[in-house]
Amino acid sequence: MRILVVGGGGREHALCWALQRESADSTIYCAPGNPGTGLCATNIPIAITDQDGLSQAASTYGIDLVVVGPEEPLALGLADRLRASGCRVFGPNAAAAQLEASKSFAKDVMAAAGVPTAASSTFTDLSKATAFIESHAEPLVVKASGLAMGKGVVVCSTRKEATQAARAMLGGAYGEAGRAILVEEFLMGEEISVVAITNGSDLIILPIAQDHKRLLEGDGGPNTGGMGAYSPVGLASRALLERVIKEVFQPTLLELERRRTPFRGALYAGLMVDRQGAPWVIEFNCRFGDPETQVMLPRVSGGLTDAFWAAASGEELPAISVTRDTAVTTVLAAKGYPDQVERGATITLPDLPEDVLVFHAATTRGRDGVLRVNGGRVLALTGVATTFHAAQAASRVAAERVQFDGKQFRRDIGWRESARR
Ligand code: AMP
Ligand code: GLY
Repeated sequence: MRILVVGGGGREHALCWALQRESADSTIYCAPGNPGTGLCATNIPIAITDQDGLSQAASTYGIDLVVVGPEEPLALGLADRLRASGCRVFGPNAAAAQLEASKSFAKDVMAAAGVPTAASSTFTDLSKATAFIESHAEPLVVKASGLAMGKGVVVCSTRKEATQAARAMLGGAYGEAGRAILVEEFLMGEEISVVAITNGSDLIILPIAQDHKRLLEGDGGPNTGGMGAYSPVGLASRALLERVIKEVFQPTLLELERRRTPFRGALYAGLMVDRQGAPWVIEFNCRFGDPETQVMLPRVSGGLTDAFWAAASGEELPAISVTRDTAVTTVLAAKGYPDQVERGATITLPDLPEDVLVFHAATTRGRDGVLRVNGGRVLALTGVATTFHAAQAASRVAAERVQFDGKQFRRDIGWRESARR
């Protein structure tokens, strides 16, 4: 099979690696890819938003299946475009991708489907938003409705902060993404990331992960795209998983089908699990997580390619096999991340043990052959082992050994899991 993975981050490296590992006779292409995907796939230098270029490449290379990594091209209708030209695509059409691209759309779907989520209201007008904030209890969460590169959420401990956040967003601080904002109640509990592969009606759940959104150890500092993750998560019992399927995924998929916009691809639910063990949706994403994919896929030992194919074709989903191993990934971020990223530092990659997987994200290799930092999240180093502690140690030791100027990383990935043991 010829598979084209669209994207060029750590998530896409993990996708290419997993697909290649699973079926040695498949040919994997990645657009645009990165130096890491270049090790397990053939990189094609086409931007993720270049629909003409990607559509052309799918035909030139005789692609059987396109797997779309990032949300932006999905929200812009890449899957619609490719499907219209006869391609099989793993990834939702633009209408279903609204689940991520418009938080107010997602709230609407959840309300119609009876899915548990924080109570919220949507505003485009500052005075109405302010009046709402004044009449609600602290803390509050203010969110840009549109795609804001993971930055459009402000958790506010006071009404004053919430009003400031609302003013900034509606005033254009996040551009078009903040034209509409949501003000919502603050949920307490522990977060997990659950990803379902779905053909629009049925679903299978990938191994569950926990992300670490804050930049600094001890969950301090600014929110980021994710500084590390691990899988499995002790909190995610079989019983919780069954509730998530029944209370979150099935009603959401049914509601999308009812609206004639079935979701084919990876549906990601960011969940808050409260003290009673009930799941609440914080957000939906229309794609795999990053860095969650870098711990979910190393635990899948078979069936991934078939599952992607079936989901893309609207066919019955096969089972996937999952190992009992633990995977822990530590992200190495560039100097200045997440605000003012400095590019260009030289990366030294030492020989690492076999239980460490090196996933490239924002790296680039110059004509001189030197590997350099090319963006915020540079590499994700995944330790895989039979015990949590061994996987955690393998990831952390690798993170210490890879060198570049200004490297930032957390040594405490998995701290909640450690505390549970
Ligand atoms: P999001 O981009 O929607 O995932 O939000 C980023 C982060 O903000 C989440 O991972 C949570 O840690 C936090 N967050 C978002 N919404 C809420 C909420 N309603 N209650 C508590 N924390 C939230
Ligand atoms: N790591 C969170 C996300 O992919 O949205």
